Amino acid sequence: MRNLCTTIAFSVLLACVAAETKSEAPTTAIEARTGIYDPALDARVEALLRKMTLEEKVGQLVQYSAGQPTGPGTGRTDYEDMIAKGQIGALFNISTAKETNAYQRIAVEKSRLKIPIVFGLDVIHGFRTIFPVPLAMASTWDPKLVEQSARIAAREASATGIRWTFSPMVDIARDARWGRMTEGAGEDPFLGSEMAAAYVRGYQGMRLDAPASIAATAKHYVGYGAAEGGRDYNTTEISEHTLRQIYLPPFRAAVDAGAATIMSAFNAINGVPASANPFTLRQVLREEWGFRGIVDSDWESVRELIQHGIANDRETAARKAFLAGVDVDMASSVYHDYLAALVKSGQVPEARIDESVRNVLRVKFALGLFERPYADESREAAAMLRPDGIALARTVAERSFVLLKNAPGPGGAPILPLSDRFRRIALIGPLADDLNSALGSWAGLGRGEDVTSLEAALAQRVGAQSLVRHKGVGITDGSDADLAAAVAVAATADVVILTLGESGQAMTGEAASRAHLGLPGRQQELLEKIVATGKPVALVLFSGRPLTLPWAFEHVPAVLAAWLPGIQAGPALVRTLFGDSSPTGKLVVSWPYSVGQLPIYYNALNTGRPANKKDLTEPPGDSDDMYVSRYLDERNEPQFPFGHGLTYTTFRYGPAKLSASSLKASAPMALAASAEVTNTGSRAGEEVVQLYVRLMGTSVAQPVRALKGFQRVALAPGETKEVTFSLRPDAFALWNDRNQWVVEPAKAAVWVSPDSAQGTPAALQILP
Ligand code: BGC
Repeated sequence: MRNLCTTIAFSVLLACVAAETKSEAPTTAIEARTGIYDPALDARVEALLRKMTLEEKVGQLVQYSAGQPTGPGTGRTDYEDMIAKGQIGALFNISTAKETNAYQRIAVEKSRLKIPIVFGLDVIHGFRTIFPVPLAMASTWDPKLVEQSARIAAREASATGIRWTFSPMVDIARDARWGRMTEGAGEDPFLGSEMAAAYVRGYQGMRLDAPASIAATAKHYVGYGAAEGGRDYNTTEISEHTLRQIYLPPFRAAVDAGAATIMSAFNAINGVPASANPFTLRQVLREEWGFRGIVDSDWESVRELIQHGIANDRETAARKAFLAGVDVDMASSVYHDYLAALVKSGQVPEARIDESVRNVLRVKFALGLFERPYADESREAAAMLRPDGIALARTVAERSFVLLKNAPGPGGAPILPLSDRFRRIALIGPLADDLNSALGSWAGLGRGEDVTSLEAALAQRVGAQSLVRHKGVGITDGSDADLAAAVAVAATADVVILTLGESGQAMTGEAASRAHLGLPGRQQELLEKIVATGKPVALVLFSGRPLTLPWAFEHVPAVLAAWLPGIQAGPALVRTLFGDSSPTGKLVVSWPYSVGQLPIYYNALNTGRPANKKDLTEPPGDSDDMYVSRYLDERNEPQFPFGHGLTYTTFRYGPAKLSASSLKASAPMALAASAEVTNTGSRAGEEVVQLYVRLMGTSVAQPVRALKGFQRVALAPGETKEVTFSLRPDAFALWNDRNQWVVEPAKAAVWVSPDSAQGTPAALQILP
């Protein structure tokens, strides 16, 4: 680490500074928070390690699912016997205190060394109290809310003895076909890093050994979201430059926030599977970042090295993954079957086994498992669905909605919020009462019965006599008669709330890639027939990703992206539709017109022949529009850009201003970047103001814009505020052509804007 940092031309990167400090003086907030960087643990780890046989050491590196499988089955069930022999260090997919305690009793009372089991689960957006899916949570642009929701999830999970979550997923996702886009924070590394750190802080709390804290896992390390064609598990080709600037930063942020574990991914990166990749696992994670926690494989990703084609048998798979830096084998059993023999035959040094066992024991000690191995069964039920968690679930849902469009309806005012003029409301579409869809994928112990649907909340709000409900069609099915009946119902109403989208569980999440991103089944027909009635329509879209709906955006006056909102779907939507709460979410992914545009992301490189004539670089040599980077039959721009989101008032932005017109690359200093923002509407409102930069003339091409800050401001009608950001030196750092983080002399542009496509930039010179 030290050498690497000092070879950098100038250490502008706080990352380097932080990592150096970490190995020398472990007294930072991270140490206090997690314990895994606390040298005081090391003595306990070493003392225990000295007592362990090789087989017991290997046992700590073995993890099985003992409940509902979350991948292909492994066929093992003899866990009790194995635990008693010290052959299992971790179990997952168990979810009651009774069960965790039963297994724990065997480990603590029957195994020779009494090393407790650590129990894990995919606690992704809540445990029992289910929050909106992570893509929606990120759309709040509010890390504090995300942290608080992770805290609630930790409180509930830990009450059952689960002290380890396989979350946050911090994969950058640029392709909406990939079903797992729903699990992450979208396409941007800066926002993704803020969210990654927020989840870690929430799960792990101020101290990892507090009973209600759980260990976080940043996954899937790394590049999983770059799956070619958006097809889950597919291979990835990622240059080191893109890896460093785009895919690695959220993992770095999670590690810096103290994440206790990292999960290695399924995908191959440039031909080397991520679960056998010494560059990412050893060089970057351990040597450069100084990570001291556990590297866990993904489900059977060690055995899958055979399918990848870099191992011809299970033994080789075990050896390659282990030597590359995967400490723990999730579910595939190959470490259990081969690691000890590999040591005995001299193919794996025992010192390497010790290293991995230290990583595991360190986390177990840091969690306080040796002191408190059992869950308190009497506390379990009372920990679930507490009022503060439910209230937070509603707030997060409200803040996650993105108002994509809100054009005037009859009478000239925007359709939303719904006015009292609309006395009879028709609620049409399959998603208004689909409880399981509202939960989204990876819904932990969430139950449909915990969800308050839009239908139920609306009926409560307006009274049954003012509401007419018709499902219209199902998500994927429906008849002509269903369509006709829905149209007849719409005809009786003053306004139609149309709830369309994809199935929250069957069509989003793992192994749920889609090649077509329109409305499934006959929903598009339903949409067109309802619009044809001429009634004002507000479309509420339920989805775990952007859907390509150009027809809807052209013909429907109001469209709200509700994502998959969790247990408080109904109350949050009703409050938003009626204006008790204003939507303030902003897109964290570019919303495409069509699948042919994918992958699409705002922070793209420019090409030598950009189609965008408003580009800041020199104009092209001639005005020919033919030989430019574009499609013949589709726009380059997305339907809605990253950062887009309307609310019930409007804002005007002044041009960006900087506190200096230049800075020195060799000694970059923080700058102030600001703009005036005015509430030009007649309602009070909040706006997420965004800061972007662009660098030109650098050794390696840089994105046309890159997010470097955001803040939420509240403005009364007519009020103007000067919104100021501190633009830190690392905002200008890039991974250069010599594989170093540097600030280079360059021409820069800085925007303070409402999204990634608008704004008037200020110019900045970065001098040598
Ligand atoms: C998923 C992981 C998950 C694991 C354990 C895998 O299939 O890729 O995200 O944490 O299963 O359930």
